[in-house]
Amino acid sequence: MKLRYKISGGILIVLSVAFVSLALVLSHNSACAPVPAVSSESELMKAIVYRCYGSPDVLEFEDVEKPAPADDEVLVKVRAASVNPFDWHYMRGSPYIMRMEAGLGAPKDTRLGVDFSGTIEAVGKNVKRFKPGDEVFGASSGAFAEYVTIRDDRALVLKPANLTFAQAASVPIAAITALQALRDKGKIKPGHKVLINGASGGVGTFAVQIAKSFDAEVTGVCSTRNVEMVRSIGADYVVDYTKEDYTESSKRYDLIIDNVGNHSLSANRRVLNPEGTFVIVGASDGRWIAPLMGPIKALILTPFVDQEFVTLLAKLKKEDLATLSDLMQAGDVTPVIDRHYRLSEVPAAIRYSEDGHARGKIVIDLQ
Ligand SMILES: NC(=O)c1ccc[n+]([C@@H]2O[C@H](COP(=O)([O-])OP(=O)(O)OC[C@H]3O[C@@H](n4cnc5c(N)ncnc54)[C@H](OP(=O)(O)O)[C@@H]3O)[C@@H](O)[C@H]2O)c1
Repeated sequence: MKLRYKISGGILIVLSVAFVSLALVLSHNSACAPVPAVSSESELMKAIVYRCYGSPDVLEFEDVEKPAPADDEVLVKVRAASVNPFDWHYMRGSPYIMRMEAGLGAPKDTRLGVDFSGTIEAVGKNVKRFKPGDEVFGASSGAFAEYVTIRDDRALVLKPANLTFAQAASVPIAAITALQALRDKGKIKPGHKVLINGASGGVGTFAVQIAKSFDAEVTGVCSTRNVEMVRSIGADYVVDYTKEDYTESSKRYDLIIDNVGNHSLSANRRVLNPEGTFVIVGASDGRWIAPLMGPIKALILTPFVDQEFVTLLAKLKKEDLATLSDLMQAGDVTPVIDRHYRLSEVPAAIRYSEDGHARGKIVIDLQ
């Protein structure tokens, strides 16, 4: 055998071993660690905790140490939180690639939940933006708990008085995602024909209303039972996906926001105007490569076509929360709430979210 074949064979074997080892490390689930002892001196609070990846059965409703705010942090007494698909992706450590950041084998951060609203109970000595008693909403890890701390320069703003705590807690991840998809990636303009695939879920119900606030013509795609709801929040047209496939229609759109990922890019391309934009928000399920296929294909396709295919990775910013707060104060956007659960019922709330048919947002009430 020629030397160069021997070398390439060797390289192939090394790469294969490295790839298989990485796959084994990423997909390995460690056993759940035992509950650590809590000092009898500590002040305690209730929280949802998970020490291993898995189904909602790994979630425990426990007493943990109540946090104290650092100098640049505020301590919020949580009045409501909300569930996002983000939470169960972290709970399951899936797709596996996210474990590079979330923790190999078991989660590094054992606390779950991001979106919350509540009342500021204490502030660190450097905090200028907030004071005790302020009613706020925002995003910080560990929101499925009685208290949460967050830096005062992070995604935290005052709650508009016309919003309940439950409504405010529904906003952060879903509404920021909808806003960034339409405004930043989609460059939405008045009169644009916009299609929202997955219009009845958390992101979709905000996207329909935010797109209308930009004076766009909005088409929402959902199942039969949600047609009236999607129309009631402002959609000009509604496509019932159980009866009609929007990618087979003769109608063309300037902007498509895809929260579902159930049609190929070429099918979506057929219904995009020649200079239209397609924004990938949600992807098909899968533990390995499936959720990444849409974004990878979009990267490859975009340089060869006039239309733009882009992927959104939402960033939680206080400026965007402030914009959304203004839209809600003006009555242009009203959160749609599907179900309410108690803090101890977070596992049931997550199970419901994982079914993939939430009608607006799922709220955890702590009042
Ligand atoms: N890229 C990012 O930064 C980012 C940020 C947030 C969320 N996300 C992702 O965006 C997706 C949506 O999030 P979400 O919070 O809106 O989820 P969600 O609240 O669970 O919404 C699910 C919705 O999808 C709809 N749906 C299911 N199958 C459908 C189909 N074939 N056609 C049209 N609609 C369908 C359901 O409506 P029916 O009951 O009528 O079927 C349901 O209302 C998730 O995949 C999430 O992980 C991405």
